[in-house]
Amino acid sequence: MRNYILKMQKGEELGKEALQKIVGGYLSGKVTREEETDFLRAVCTYSLSEKDAIALTEVMLESGKTLCFKKRSLPYADKHSTGGLADSTTLLVAPIVAAAGVPFLKMSGRKLGHTGGTIDKLEKFKGLNPEMPIESAERVVDKTGAAIIAQSEELVPADKALYKLRDETGTVKSLPLIASSIVSKKLASGADVFVLDVKTGNGAFMESLKESVALARLMLNLLSSHGKKAAAVISDMDEPLGNAIGGALEVSDAIEALSGKESRLSELSLLLSSELISLAKNVRFAEAAAEAKRLLESGAAKAKLMEIISAEGGDLTLFSKEERDRLFFANAGTICADRSGYVKKIDCVSLGNLAREFESLGGYGIYFPKKIGDAVEKGDVLARFCGETPASPSFLARLSSCIVLQDAVCNPLPLFYEILKADPPSV
Ligand code: URA
Repeated sequence: MRNYILKMQKGEELGKEALQKIVGGYLSGKVTREEETDFLRAVCTYSLSEKDAIALTEVMLESGKTLCFKKRSLPYADKHSTGGLADSTTLLVAPIVAAAGVPFLKMSGRKLGHTGGTIDKLEKFKGLNPEMPIESAERVVDKTGAAIIAQSEELVPADKALYKLRDETGTVKSLPLIASSIVSKKLASGADVFVLDVKTGNGAFMESLKESVALARLMLNLLSSHGKKAAAVISDMDEPLGNAIGGALEVSDAIEALSGKESRLSELSLLLSSELISLAKNVRFAEAAAEAKRLLESGAAKAKLMEIISAEGGDLTLFSKEERDRLFFANAGTICADRSGYVKKIDCVSLGNLAREFESLGGYGIYFPKKIGDAVEKGDVLARFCGETPASPSFLARLSSCIVLQDAVCNPLPLFYEILKADPPSV
């Protein structure tokens, strides 16, 4: 390992063979935990060239199975988000894209850090078990056009082992490590066109726009080096995307958006869906965007999500607003503005952690109606815990400290900052 690290210090490339020894060796036990940690630390310090990042992605990909779906008239689409707060876009993108006739099969994860996972949300539909074999997922796609299932254990075992070690050794934050981890899993899960939702802001993995753009570019290059078509949207994460934080409430927020409530959540979902439809059907963005909007506004996307949930064994009770309100929106404690002003800042990480903690005590989450730039009158509701058991005064105080008001007017945040594209190299 010493020689490899010396090479990295000198800025020399390692090459696929060496990376295979480093990663494969760790999986087989030939490389010790300490040696592998030294390698990860070296990547965090000296980074990797793009060529080595591509090689590392291949090594990770080759550590497990790659799925191959049956041929359909349009290519399979998939999306990935680097993780945001109140982000239930998958529950909108899957049905919009499927309603447009583009097959969509996504493997999702559970909650990570302060953000929620799509699988935790799906499990709010009684009876739905997202841990299904790929053959069953394909049958759901046959029937409905889309499936969302839990990440298969057989794909990219190297990522499982490396991610655990990165998490334990504080070596998560490295562009090539993050990009190869995400892209290897995307490549293994079999789709041909991708949209990446790369978040930027205080609630994102990458807080600065510069880092987020660099991560997006690297992921796009890794995907296009494997012949995949992809777009990346650099979207804002300096405030929660939707109005609800916590699995049950996020499901409710997504269904509201599918029922016609316009919000940043519906806007971003339309944008991500339009990118996928445009890439999969090879049509101009404006045409794809018009189709996505029509499918959302007509209720076709909502009907499609009901089909998908039903085909995955889920109960449809939550599609009734009365039932959602009855089940989830019991008031467990409200915080109100103690002054007038404008919403200046929202601490997304603390807010997310608070919602997770409240959920772990049996609560449903936090309803958060305000956005940056909103005018607030003294006494207005800023946020509300939803659950059967009242939130403690310390929970309310912590919620209160997540939101900063100021006297001066401030502008709302943009929904997104940039859209980047990658086409596979023509050979
Ligand atoms: N998500 C992943 O799957 N991998 C990372 O390294 C970071 C976020």
